Amino acid sequence: MEYKRYLITAALPYANGPLHIGHLAGCYLPADIYVRYLRSRDRDVKFICGSDEHGVPITIRAIRENTTSQNVVDLFHSTLKKSFENIDISFDIFSRTTSEIHRKTSQDFFLRLYEKNVFEEKETEQFYDVEKSIYLADRYIIGVCPFCQYDNAYGDQCEKCGNTLSPEQLINPKSALTNSTPIKKKTKHWFFPLNKFESWLRDWILVDKKDKWKINVYNQCKSWLDQGLQPRSITRDSDWGVPVPLEDAIGKVLYVWFEAPIGYISATKELTDNWEKYWKQKDTKLIHFVGKDNIVFHCIIFPAMLKSYGNFILPDNIPANEFLNIEGKKVSTSRNWAVWVDDFIQDFKDSEDVLRFILCSNSPETKDFDFTWKDFQDRNNNELVATFGNFIHRTLILTQKFCNGKVPVFSEDTLSSEDRVIMEEIVNTKKIVESNIELFKFKNALFDIIELSRKGNKFLQDVSPWILAKSINEENNNRVIIDNCLHICLQAIANIAYYINPFLPRTANKLSFLIGTQTTNFQWDYCGKFNLLSSGTLLPTPEILFRKIEDEEIEFQIQKLKGETHVK
Ligand code: MF3
Ligand code: ZN
Repeated sequence: MEYKRYLITAALPYANGPLHIGHLAGCYLPADIYVRYLRSRDRDVKFICGSDEHGVPITIRAIRENTTSQNVVDLFHSTLKKSFENIDISFDIFSRTTSEIHRKTSQDFFLRLYEKNVFEEKETEQFYDVEKSIYLADRYIIGVCPFCQYDNAYGDQCEKCGNTLSPEQLINPKSALTNSTPIKKKTKHWFFPLNKFESWLRDWILVDKKDKWKINVYNQCKSWLDQGLQPRSITRDSDWGVPVPLEDAIGKVLYVWFEAPIGYISATKELTDNWEKYWKQKDTKLIHFVGKDNIVFHCIIFPAMLKSYGNFILPDNIPANEFLNIEGKKVSTSRNWAVWVDDFIQDFKDSEDVLRFILCSNSPETKDFDFTWKDFQDRNNNELVATFGNFIHRTLILTQKFCNGKVPVFSEDTLSSEDRVIMEEIVNTKKIVESNIELFKFKNALFDIIELSRKGNKFLQDVSPWILAKSINEENNNRVIIDNCLHICLQAIANIAYYINPFLPRTANKLSFLIGTQTTNFQWDYCGKFNLLSSGTLLPTPEILFRKIEDEEIEFQIQKLKGETHVK
């Protein structure tokens, strides 16, 4: 199938805390890299995100801080939006689920299914906290996970093993608000009959998507499907959320996991009048970037909802990442174990791309990954500074010294075999990077680019223009060898600017400036070639791209992580 347009979504983050590096590594950075790549290929693409402003994570924070849910989401919606901008995540829209357009869109979605008689209406007994007079669904209830015995599992999900739960499955359930043992109380809700979609989902996922989806995603879906699907309640007793649009539903709202994914649709509507083209035409490729705790909602529940509604397209892929842990522990906003994006940007000036680099190279693409400050320092100092930055800087300095700061001439008929080898590498890197990006292997793609700079360094070392320069005369052709060598290295940098642009956009711009091209339009079609620079172009004074990170800075960050000073 020939796709005409792309609709790329990144999970709507809960507006209950600031942006941390686990968020970025989990889905926003990979999504952004992919989108920037698609844009550089001139694809028609919309990149959709927004705040998830309903649900228990919000109300619990409001209760804990003695404020209103509205205050919580107002504060964190704007904080998140700003942080995403700061770190160059290039959403086409960052909307919010408390918007009017979303209320209407999600209520209409519910009503259409209601009118098609999709839902089952049931009165059931649910856990109830007598002291707070509140039904304990989702994260209001905590207990031991029946799958992995983790003792802090929520009523909707165990964050340790990723299994989706219902409160009845928890062993020794307790109210998250009062820690008391709940009673049972009757209440009426609407259920989405997921069980009726089981055989369709088995075909769609276990057959159609088998070799297409990432193995971690496929396996989680399979284990879920193998346990058998149950009807799921899609309404809640709460005063915070999208009201259930029925007369006899006073005090009921749509379940956040029913309504939030519809937020992708609402946000697209807000972005463009053409929204139906993106959601309803089969030649749109829909891709959801999410973290591993979101897999079943995006692979099973939301597709079943879309299918049940009719005439929506289904996701082509859900390239979910696993988790990024920090210094051996799971990132947690509520337990205060995180590295906050804005803090990082403040502490390490002009280091937006350093953070993107570190997170992409530690990307938990196939398994959980541990971020440590020491590893951060090593990677920065060894890869960004001593390999990547060094190749660029050496090339620029040598050009100043031995070629009067101008792109030297290139004599194609006197190329050495080393010249030819590195030229081939420069061109081939394009294909490798491209295919890795298309397979969502962003880490490998980035390493391929770093690898090219490593080879560039070796090439410089092998040719050693600084030695040849000592004896340039009529009897040897050292002048030509030096010129060819630096011409090739400069063309390499020009290509690297294009390759690195989806990953480190600021670096791409700087490189482009340093080699005198000044393009900020890194069209993928133009790279992988040797005509990106013209001989004779005068280059500006070289500048250092990345700096070494010292032990004290790392020590400071470790203390900050462990200390009291970074309470958010
Ligand atoms: N807010 C959820 C989380 O952070 C993700 C919601 S994704 C959406 O885990 F599809 F529901 F929007
Ligand atoms: Zn578990």
